[in-house]
Amino acid sequence: MKFTVYNYKGGVGKTRIALNLALTLDFAIITNEIYIPTIKKIIPDNKYIQLEKNQALETYPDEIDIIFDFGGGIDQRIITAIKQSNWVIVPVTNDHDELEATINIIQEIEDIKKNIVVVANRTAQGDLEEIKKAISKHYSYPIFEVKKSKGLRNITKEGKSIKAMVEEGGLKAHSYKALDQQFDKLINFLKKV
Ligand SMILES: Nc1ncnc2c1ncn2[C@@H]1O[C@H](COP(=O)(O)OP(=O)(O)OP(=O)(O)O)[C@@H](O)[C@H]1O
Ligand SMILES: [Mg+2]
Repeated sequence: MKFTVYNYKGGVGKTRIALNLALTLDFAIITNEIYIPTIKKIIPDNKYIQLEKNQALETYPDEIDIIFDFGGGIDQRIITAIKQSNWVIVPVTNDHDELEATINIIQEIEDIKKNIVVVANRTAQGDLEEIKKAISKHYSYPIFEVKKSKGLRNITKEGKSIKAMVEEGGLKAHSYKALDQQFDKLINFLKKV
């Protein structure tokens, strides 16, 4: 399977979501961004491609499992990623301008592929409802929640997925259980279709 995590907006959590999905599902990652060393370090070399500035994106066979972590305006590479993906995951946080921008971006994505899910990311009390309200004025795509948590930042420190941290037990397991369950919900949905 292939998933594209995409929003033209920066800082919405694309890379953290892509990383946790890739580590949990044992998928490769292909990105058009420049990953910081701490991120590079935790992905095996044979599971990771950082595209060079003008490097085109290939279309990979169906049996290869990939997460595309793509930012920036829609270009040929992003179109190629979206076209070969089963789902496009669009992270957004509860910020008015960002939500407006995301509503426009979804329109561009759906011209390429209609298998879209929105991830309301970094949520605190009330954020999910506000994001749902803004998005559902325009679209009926499913909206999943990923709450605000240190867990996503700790992926690079620990070098493992949220699920692996939870499975280790102890204090982290307790703190990240709800976060892991939110990812489970998203993953179950993505894999069902
Ligand atoms: N659910 C979350 N809870 C807490 N912090 C988060 C969450 N998701 C992301 N972050 C933090 O927000 C920041 C931006 O996340 P990330 O780098 O994944 O976004 P991005 O969309 O890939 O950004 P860029 O456009 O720079 O590539 C990071 O510091 C990350 O640790
Ligand atoms: Mg990123």
